[in-house]
Amino acid sequence: MTFEKTILCIGAGYVGGPTMAMIAAQCPRCLVTVVDINPERIAAWNSDNLPIYEPGLDELVRATRGRNLFFSTEIERGIRENDIIFVSVNTPTKSFGLGAGMAADLQYWEKTARQILEFSESSKIVIEKSTLPVKTALAMERILNCRENGIHFDVLSNPEFLAEGTAVRDLEHPDRILIGSRETDNGLKARQTLVDIYASWVPKERILTSNIWSSELSKLVSNAFLAQRISSINAISALCEKAEADVAEVSRAVGMDSRIGPKFLNASIGFGGSCFRKDILNLVYLCRNYGLDAVADYWESVVKINDYQQERFIRNMLGAMFNTLAGKRICLWGFAFKANTGDTRESPAIFIARRLLEEQAEIVVSDPKALKNARTDLAGIEGQIRYVEDPLLAAEGCHAIALLTEWDLYRTLDFPKIFDSMAKPAFIFDGRNILDHHRCFDIGFNVYPVGKPPLTHFLEER
Ligand code: NAD
Ligand code: UGA
Repeated sequence: MTFEKTILCIGAGYVGGPTMAMIAAQCPRCLVTVVDINPERIAAWNSDNLPIYEPGLDELVRATRGRNLFFSTEIERGIRENDIIFVSVNTPTKSFGLGAGMAADLQYWEKTARQILEFSESSKIVIEKSTLPVKTALAMERILNCRENGIHFDVLSNPEFLAEGTAVRDLEHPDRILIGSRETDNGLKARQTLVDIYASWVPKERILTSNIWSSELSKLVSNAFLAQRISSINAISALCEKAEADVAEVSRAVGMDSRIGPKFLNASIGFGGSCFRKDILNLVYLCRNYGLDAVADYWESVVKINDYQQERFIRNMLGAMFNTLAGKRICLWGFAFKANTGDTRESPAIFIARRLLEEQAEIVVSDPKALKNARTDLAGIEGQIRYVEDPLLAAEGCHAIALLTEWDLYRTLDFPKIFDSMAKPAFIFDGRNILDHHRCFDIGFNVYPVGKPPLTHFLEER
């Protein structure tokens, strides 16, 4: 079979793998190759045990792999043979030097640009898929076009907006596809090539084109706005706990204003995930660099409230459990940063587990998909940690359950049986507000939701 377009993606991670699988599925006349420096990751993509868990991903990969989707470690060959190159490598927060803890670490990004330059034998379109500081495309252009050998590179920005746990659905029915380019003849032509690929399945009115800097910046700003909503409702949850209001009722009332809308207003133990924190800090760093300190302070407060919310959860546990957790056994239901993923990057559960161990509690970690990552995250931390997949067995003999991830399975467990198996008084701290609190209370638990009055059997608190 001859293919109309050949596409390479450098970086076979949470974004590169699923995004390319969707392009391969929707564009059978495109040949899509995904490469990575990590041979184990590539081997996993070529196996029955994919490196990431996403609902619907196994089916998508099974339908396309070996047909027009290939995973490989041959980066040089990939660059030589493909004219459209997505770059989807990781862009973590810098951990050293100037900007440590704030700025984006662009070393993987720049390495990729230099590799593309070194191995290209023909002109190419290079697409920023990773989330990057605004103006990164300029650096990419400068590196790529530094040789005068007749090979020309057009750089596009095409940020990804998928959320983990719903990646396949988000890729199939995106709210929007954003493509930024230089507004030159070449830039506009390259932009159109990418528009044509997405137009195979995305309605035209959802494909948005813009100048390249607006596109880069829109990605950071989208994540900042989403995280800001969570920090806003979490800040209010603290007030609700003092004022005996119920944060779920407040968010319902507020979200019914069609100008505000109901989504992303669930109070919680704070947001996690690989991107919100890093992208906001990146935005903050950019603003400071441009001398916009008031703007930087504003966005930084979103991260500060998130840290505050996680510490508050621990303090509430301590306060409720008579100011000592030492020697008490606490079961963590959920370790992933959200439901329907095994990803634990920046999961609030990591912070909470660490803090509980600092308080000398024993912890039992339970999660249907994230135990492998949890073991890695908690490796080397002093204290007693057990990993038990079954949530009922995990809770046995515990003094408290802390629900940290909103997995559906926790809603329908046999709570009377769980209560009977626990030390008394038994506590539930529902960090996601997903349980039937009144029912748990009636069974005998002392129940502490987020942003709602606790339901306890202690007379002085009633
Ligand atoms: P990831 O860490 O899962 O994957 C990145 C991959 O790139 C890794 O497998 C790594 O081995 C590979 N890599 C690094 N340098 C390389 C090189 N020089 N050559 C080849 N491969 C290389 O990261 P991710 O979660 O897929 O995120 C990628 C980018 O997408 C980030 O900028 C992130 O901010 C952005 N993003 C992520 C999500 C998400 O849900 N995870 C959503 C939208 C955007
Ligand atoms: C987020 C964005 O939603 C995506 O659009 C974006 O592409 C992606 O980041 C990225 O750039 O990486 P993701 O982190 O996968 O996606 O998941 P979200 O659904 O946004 O949840 C993030 C965190 O916020 C989770 O810990 C979740 O539990 C928490 N959250 C979410 C709340 O605490 N309350 C809410 O109301 C919503």
